[in-house]
Amino acid sequence: MRFSDKWKDYALLDSSGGERLERWGDHILIRPDPQIIWNTVRRHPAWNRADARYLRSHTGGGRWEMRRSLPDSWTIGYESLTFRIRTMGFKHTGVFPEQAVNWDLTASVIRQADRPLRVLNLFGYTGAATVCALKAGAAVTHVDASKGMVQWAKENAALSGVADKPVRWIVDDCVKFAQREIRRGNKYDIIIMDPPSYGRGPGGEVWKLENEIFGLCELCAALLHEDARLFLLNSYTTGLSPSVMQYLLSVTVRPLHGGKVSSDEIGLPVAGTDLILPSGATAVWQK
Ligand SMILES: C[S@@+](CC[C@H](N)C(=O)[O-])C[C@H]1O[C@@H](n2cnc3c(N)ncnc32)[C@H](O)[C@@H]1O
Repeated sequence: MRFSDKWKDYALLDSSGGERLERWGDHILIRPDPQIIWNTVRRHPAWNRADARYLRSHTGGGRWEMRRSLPDSWTIGYESLTFRIRTMGFKHTGVFPEQAVNWDLTASVIRQADRPLRVLNLFGYTGAATVCALKAGAAVTHVDASKGMVQWAKENAALSGVADKPVRWIVDDCVKFAQREIRRGNKYDIIIMDPPSYGRGPGGEVWKLENEIFGLCELCAALLHEDARLFLLNSYTTGLSPSVMQYLLSVTVRPLHGGKVSSDEIGLPVAGTDLILPSGATAVWQK
């Protein structure tokens, strides 16, 4: 399993009974995680002093139960990057900490390149991968369906000191944008995507992972430059196993560009233990 051991402002403190106990900077949150099927004894003292806990409702949604006064938002750092954190719907906080291992891989490919690289970040969310790629020296096109998310990503770029770097912020449906880029003849050296299982484009376009992912990977393969370096396909949906994503990239990218595809689970180390909580999977194509 791949994971980052560089987090200082984030820590997974414990996991038990369907919940994660996490430290986000100075604040402790408890969030549901259905794969935590072990009911281990909750010895960690932070279980009793969490600032907020996300409670799932039986009707599908959920809400944050505030236990102490939590600010509307606060910031955390990862290496030289800074991200704004907020407690939001769907138990989100604005950062997927397990993705740090993919930010590191992207940054190292950009830093080791013999020329400036162009990155396409699809389903870019609050821009952590975008900000990381900008910091490493790439030019980035960031695409997300939500205006609010793109605004938040811009704020993360400013907080991280990369707002003046070469970045295009695009509010669009990822499939439509990829089709347009092919027509325009634009090419990319790195494509990163972490698609949700279900979503909507700004014009109401329905994104259903199982139905759309093969077509989008085909479009992305066509968008890769002949000297492209990296394609990262991540999923936190249990439906897409690492080997399914590896197969997808093998049949879409390799016929056009050669190279090698690998895949693995990604995870979060549990502080003070040798345990790692699986948190998704990534397939990686490299030349
Ligand atoms: C859960 S996030 C992906 C995680 C993110 N890449 C990360 O690692 O932090 C899903 C994002 O996809 C966006 N989205 C959903 N459907 C979309 C679509 N059809 N086109 C573009 N973006 C979409 C949402 O607005 C949301 O910001």
